[in-house]
Amino acid sequence: MSGPSQGWFRVRQAREEDIPQVMEVNYKSLPENYWYGFFKFILDNWPKAFLVAEAEGRVIGYAMSRVESVSDPVLRGLENELEGGAPEARPAGGGIRDRLRGLFSRRASPGRVGHLVSIAVLEEYRGRGVGSALLSETIRSLRDHYGVESIYLEVRVSNERAIRLYEKFGFRKVRIIKKYYMDGEDAYVMVLRFGQSDATS
Ligand SMILES: CC(C)(COP(=O)(O)OP(=O)(O)OC[C@H]1O[C@@H](n2cnc3c(N)ncnc32)[C@H](O)[C@@H]1OP(=O)(O)O)[C@@H](O)C(=O)NCCC(=O)NCCS
Repeated sequence: MSGPSQGWFRVRQAREEDIPQVMEVNYKSLPENYWYGFFKFILDNWPKAFLVAEAEGRVIGYAMSRVESVSDPVLRGLENELEGGAPEARPAGGGIRDRLRGLFSRRASPGRVGHLVSIAVLEEYRGRGVGSALLSETIRSLRDHYGVESIYLEVRVSNERAIRLYEKFGFRKVRIIKKYYMDGEDAYVMVLRFGQSDATS
């Protein structure tokens, strides 16, 4: 697979030999680091959802995701804990019984969702569209190849730059997880549900 090219860089599917460079980008960019086997596991299982951006013959960014079977209506984009519930989670005109029935029937069968595990671009290449290209291809691949109904991710509440990037593609803040990170910082969970807003189509 070869993704979009902006002239000076291109996005493509990751290969096993890219993993050391991906680990370097991850290590330089984020405090959340993973062991080799974790990257390999994602690549082996969801190869079309593990992308790298390449320029000048080296990896300058990556985005890796996995596919999960999830019952949680918030991660499926059916409810928003921060806004008191998405409209489609509430049957129109229904009383409390209809509403509960609607929620439980949705909860009964899990949905197939994408989880953006990690995305990063080397500092010297940021602000030039690489992150957007990686995210755009990730969304396309998870939706079109893996057939997910939504994509979710966790992001530090202080990471305004990443939050702006996700919002640009239609992700919405749906939950706060207190002390999610090792240093005690909270995380926003953000979700993009297909059919509502889809910035890649
Ligand atoms: C988040 C990250 C991947 C974005 O990559 P990038 O290549 O800089 O992204 P882009 O150049 O495509 O910019 C995407 C959006 O980010 C925002 N952005 C970019 N540069 C910014 C800056 N200097 N200040 C604030 N927002 C900025 C803008 O909304 C931009 O969209 P726009 O150009 O249409 O306005 C990159 O900053 C990064 O690697 N950060 C460290 C790792 C990280 O925080 N990962 C996310 C963990 S959840």
